[in-house]
Amino acid sequence: MGSINVLGVVFWCAVLMHAGYAQLSPSFYSQTCPFLYPIVFRVIFEASLTDPRIGASLIRLHFHDCFVQGCDGSVLLNNTNTIVSEQDALPNINSLRGLDVVNQIKTAVENECPATVSCADILTIAAQVASVLGGGPSWQIPLGRRDSLTANQALANQNLPAPFFTLDQLKAAFLVQGLNTTDLVTLSGAHTFGRAKCSTFINRLYNFNSTGNPDQTLNTTYLQTLREICPQNGTGNNLTNLDLTTPNQFDNKFYSNLQSHKGLLQSDQELFSTPNADTIAIVNSFSSNQALFFENFRVSMIKMANISVLTGNEGEIRLQCNFINADSSGLSGGASKDELLSSF
Ligand code: HEM
Ligand SMILES: *[C@@H]1O[C@H](CO)[C@@H](O)[C@H](O)[C@H]1NC(C)=O
Ligand SMILES: *[C@@H]1O[C@H](CO)[C@@H](O)[C@H](O)[C@H]1NC(C)=O
Ligand SMILES: *[C@@H]1O[C@H](CO)[C@@H](O)[C@H](O)[C@H]1NC(C)=O
Ligand SMILES: *[C@@H]1O[C@H](CO)[C@@H](O)[C@H](O)[C@H]1NC(C)=O
Ligand SMILES: *[C@@H]1O[C@H](CO)[C@@H](O)[C@H](O)[C@H]1NC(C)=O
Ligand SMILES: *[C@@H]1O[C@H](CO)[C@@H](O)[C@H](O)[C@H]1NC(C)=O
Ligand SMILES: *[C@@H]1O[C@H](CO)[C@@H](O)[C@H](O)[C@H]1NC(C)=O
Repeated sequence: MGSINVLGVVFWCAVLMHAGYAQLSPSFYSQTCPFLYPIVFRVIFEASLTDPRIGASLIRLHFHDCFVQGCDGSVLLNNTNTIVSEQDALPNINSLRGLDVVNQIKTAVENECPATVSCADILTIAAQVASVLGGGPSWQIPLGRRDSLTANQALANQNLPAPFFTLDQLKAAFLVQGLNTTDLVTLSGAHTFGRAKCSTFINRLYNFNSTGNPDQTLNTTYLQTLREICPQNGTGNNLTNLDLTTPNQFDNKFYSNLQSHKGLLQSDQELFSTPNADTIAIVNSFSSNQALFFENFRVSMIKMANISVLTGNEGEIRLQCNFINADSSGLSGGASKDELLSSF
């Protein structure tokens, strides 16, 4: 009996040690960078004083990282001789924000714990801080991701869902990432804050789906407001709040907006207005129970943050989030040494 227990302990230690290379852990940096979280929190908090939208922009950055070859910081890579930047993909170009704040966080972290913390982990922590600063849920953040040596612009165009996707297309885009219908409805709730450009929803306002009419699922009073912000012959660059009720707060108003047909994006409203959809009941439950939404959001964010992560000795810890280290040292057309030195 006793010897079986000893063997059992040895066996489980071996399993855990092996898993240590593949699994993320909330305590990953507790010895090597104990003040990581407060450093990230402080930089984002300070940025939020002048830019109330920054949290929303950072959480979106994490989403756009994770859906393209996993949560590996690939979205942060700039164009070089070897990198075709994901930032120029259609869902990202002229709409990604917060890249400068990520670099500010990285600089502050490097000052405290050089060459230790990945840019991919910084994005994950930033996403949780964004939720907390907006009044949303907090959660333990599994850490230990490594940064990619590559980016994939074509995959960014292919994998990131578009605002004019139908519910079936949205479900499919999440399913390939291992995220189910509940995760889709839950994570769409991140549209409780932040802004969108007219170009992302103007298709609903004048001639929806070649009908000659606006989207019938759009509340007519809200339609009038949106038409004023987004004239038919405008540039499409005007911005409006994704959540008209509480624009900067992380809460469940996104879901009650859908119930009164005031979802901004077609992809949002589909969750409630697609006839007989299994997503309607989930929208209703989150609308009537914010704690339930928050609990689901914790789980789904941890799940999204776990997509195809690099661990152990895969990838690298980038020294500058916009360049792989080989490019950072000026070997193949990245930033010059002077540029890098001045950024630290
Ligand atoms: C379900 C499919 C999704 C679609 C089709 C979609 C689409 C969009 C679009 C078109 C915008 C406006 C971009 C712009 O005009 O610059 C946007 C903004 C945003 N998205 Fe999504 N999104 C989706 C899911 C998500 C998820 C899963 C998250 C995070 C968990 C997220 C977080 C955000 C945030 C916070 C903003 C505002 C960003 C800012 O103000 O800078 N979205 N999204
Ligand atoms: C990366 O590219 C963006 C434009 O996409 C630019 O604004 C930024 O300065 C570049 N970052 C660095 C460190 O060169
Ligand atoms: C748009 O029109 C097509 C063909 O008429 C139809 O199959 C599709 O369901 C419509 N999409 C929406 C969102 O109404
Ligand atoms: C914009 O379109 C409206 C009709 O939708 C028209 O009355 C107006 O003259 C146009 N404005 C410009 C600047 O083209
Ligand atoms: C931006 O919105 C304002 C109303 O808020 C509107 O008067 C203006 O025409 C819009 N501009 C463009 C380029 O869409
Ligand atoms: C549209 O919004 C108004 C409030 O602005 C609300 O009273 C009404 O019920 C909404 N209509 C629909 C069809 O949801
Ligand atoms: C969907 O994923 C959630 C976790 O994010 C899980 O709790 C739920 O059971 C899953 N639903 C189905 C139908 O598999
Ligand atoms: C994260 O992914 C790993 C590897 O696929 C898996 O073993 C683990 O259960 C996942 N964790 C969560 C929280 O989804």
